[in-house]
Amino acid sequence: MPRQLFVTTALPYANAGFHIGHMMEYIQADIWVRYQRMQGVAVDFVCADDTHGAPIMIAAEKAGKTPQQFVADIAAGRKQYLDGFHIGFDNWHSTDAPENHELARQIYRDLRDNQDGSLIERRTIAQFFDPEKNMFLPDRFIKGECPKCHAKDQYGDNCEVCGAVYAPTDLINPYSALSGATPVLKDSEHYFFKLSDARCVDFLSKWTQDGKLQPEVANKVKEWFSVRTNPDGTQSEGLGDWDISRDAPYFGIEIPDAPGKYFYVWLDAPIGYLASLKNLLGQRGLDYDAYMANPELEQYHFIGKDIVTFHTLFWPATLHFSGRKTPDNIFVHGHLTVNGEKMSKSRGTGLDPLKYLSLGMNPEWLRYYLAAKLSARNEDLDFNPNDFMARVNSDLIGKYINIASRAAGFLTKRFEGRLGEVPEDGAALLHQLRLQSESVEALYAARECAKALRETMLLADQVNAYVDANKPWDLAKQAGMDARLQGVCTVCIKAFRVLTCYLKPVLPELARQVEAFLKVEPLSFANVREPLPAQHVIGTYQHMMQRVLPEQLDALFEPKEAAAPVQQAQAAPKKVAKPAPAAAVADPEAPGGEALAPTIGIEDFAKIDLRIAKIVNCEPVEGSTKLLRLTLDVGEKDASGQPRLRNVFSGIASAYQPADLTGKLTVMVANLAPRKMKFGISEGMVLAASHADEAATPGIYVLNPWPGALPGMRVH
Ligand code: MSP
Ligand code: ZN
Repeated sequence: MPRQLFVTTALPYANAGFHIGHMMEYIQADIWVRYQRMQGVAVDFVCADDTHGAPIMIAAEKAGKTPQQFVADIAAGRKQYLDGFHIGFDNWHSTDAPENHELARQIYRDLRDNQDGSLIERRTIAQFFDPEKNMFLPDRFIKGECPKCHAKDQYGDNCEVCGAVYAPTDLINPYSALSGATPVLKDSEHYFFKLSDARCVDFLSKWTQDGKLQPEVANKVKEWFSVRTNPDGTQSEGLGDWDISRDAPYFGIEIPDAPGKYFYVWLDAPIGYLASLKNLLGQRGLDYDAYMANPELEQYHFIGKDIVTFHTLFWPATLHFSGRKTPDNIFVHGHLTVNGEKMSKSRGTGLDPLKYLSLGMNPEWLRYYLAAKLSARNEDLDFNPNDFMARVNSDLIGKYINIASRAAGFLTKRFEGRLGEVPEDGAALLHQLRLQSESVEALYAARECAKALRETMLLADQVNAYVDANKPWDLAKQAGMDARLQGVCTVCIKAFRVLTCYLKPVLPELARQVEAFLKVEPLSFANVREPLPAQHVIGTYQHMMQRVLPEQLDALFEPKEAAAPVQQAQAAPKKVAKPAPAAAVADPEAPGGEALAPTIGIEDFAKIDLRIAKIVNCEPVEGSTKLLRLTLDVGEKDASGQPRLRNVFSGIASAYQPADLTGKLTVMVANLAPRKMKFGISEGMVLAASHADEAATPGIYVLNPWPGALPGMRVH
């Protein structure tokens, strides 16, 4: 029997489109699910919109819609994000669907009617009530003067000016953020889940500390058993009871036998995991109860670090004490920042996932980049455009794709695509690659994506070293070397296939293209151990992935023009999708993709003063993804005898990290007239080589003199 997994990501609030932080969570979970499936594990992977609660109700009212219409409109926009980034959920549902109403009410009844004593208790509490809107106010909708620093217009739970934490009733001159009315204190009966009950404390202290949770998560949770912070900022001992009811008007699920009372959104939200699964099974004609009764079923939830309490205390207790299966684990990730900037819950950041797609940027670039940073720990990670471009261009394209593009052409042109015998040195290399499979698999299983990719790229380095050592392009020119050429290229293609298996959880679409090119069935890790037959015939290689262009990143982060006409907004993606100007004149027959310039005499050449320059400093240019700022020493001195350094901007950020260049020698045009650029004055130009069609033959290569040359020497 294969393992059976039920996997979810957190259910996003149905108040806005996705931001890039959401996409990171989905990509992390999707990679893990794809890995499991490649191992033959059966996985049901579901999510849903989290629809209930006061904020969504109020947002709907502002938009002039019913809450149902409001969340339906949000739900309609989900598909383009999920399909766009190859997120393979089996079902997307809603916490307002009938399955969830039914399940939430049943789970509540089971808690209430628990055989060993009810876990639900009713208590009357006093809360702020808006007499104009006729509703109790959530803390976020009560404002007033901070009791500590007297700042005006602070929220009901904490002061953004001095950071004080307090209860809404501590505010001076409180007012309703909805109507402006002065709220009045009003009694209301609330329903509580008795988390402080000894049974809960006992169960949860074991459930959270039995070694399944990530150590940093378990440690944090442990603290909540000894102290807790009350709404007024004071601290109490142990777990507190959890208020699970809200009064009408509320967009939510009505509590059984309690007219006018609704479940607090966080009670029914995780039950939405089960509702989505139940809906999926229904579509397949399968029985939900039978599915859940399978003792082998494993249940996992991927979530962010901000919602750990709900998933490690409330959720397992809700399930356990209603007689249901608890999760096998909760996988907690850190938060994504963009350029060091935090995501706002509703607005996200400057990096809009749909804009990314509309610019024609490859979704698998993002999957690769995030995977290259993701670990099993819940640390935060940052999206940095320069880092993104360097990782994708140098690793994914420069190392991995490059292997196929270096070998496939020879096989097609000279051997009709037929693979040959693997030479001995190549067999050793392939063996080396295959040996790594177990380690890569274990890393994916443990959600150590960054490590899995690092190992894979080290293997790609070995393959590229093999190509460099054997130089198929030289073999192709030598007589009698056909068998060797075919053998070397065969090794490359076989190695490429193994690496593709290792990358497939992260790059499903690229892997599909590779499978078509190699003419093989869908790859899995088992294929690593079953080599391709010697006589196998591959298809024709077509370039499979473009490089990230700096223009695309510039466009991605360009702020939206407030009232830009629609036409213009649509024209923008076209502008960057167009090949770079150099590519427009690329001539595949000419050396380096461009015809030679007209002949000049030596006197013309002599006008250009080329000098050896030392790169004494190199740094990124804020606001530009294309440029690096170089500080060059060409051995000059100013009038007072001090060394004179040159400032030069160079469009090489896609190819080099500042640290790669600092301290190195290069060649510069030293008598070029200074040029004023957006970021400052550029006093010259460094020399670098590139193919006219950068997309076809990627790379920018800065010139570097032989050892012995000194700064200031003229290049003749
Ligand atoms: N609706 C609740 C979850 C209910 S689960 C039964 C919620 N929604 S959310 O839209 O605010 O967040 C959804 C998920 O996205 C959470 O796991 C959250 O941690 C995650 N992220 C929100 N911002 C994020 C980043 N900046 N980075 C990574 N993940 C982020 O919470
Ligand atoms: Zn204050």
